[in-house]
Amino acid sequence: MVLMIICVCNAINCKSVRAAVEAGADSPKAVQAHHGCKFQCGKCRPSIGEMISEALFERDPSPALVPAE
Ligand code: FES
Repeated sequence: MVLMIICVCNAINCKSVRAAVEAGADSPKAVQAHHGCKFQCGKCRPSIGEMISEALFERDPSPALVPAE
């Protein structure tokens, strides 16, 4: 299995991001905190955010918005 590094500054890979989300992290900052880290350059923030969105969508693919009646 190839592990893609998501955060170079803190050596957080894709598996580590998924583990943090499984443990309840729901924001990039929470993913960093789960691993005892803080953002350094912050360039990974969008990628982590995307991974969180994808994981949450896989968990509950129902639409977030409900049509108005
Ligand atoms: S790449 Fe994540 S803080 Fe720099």
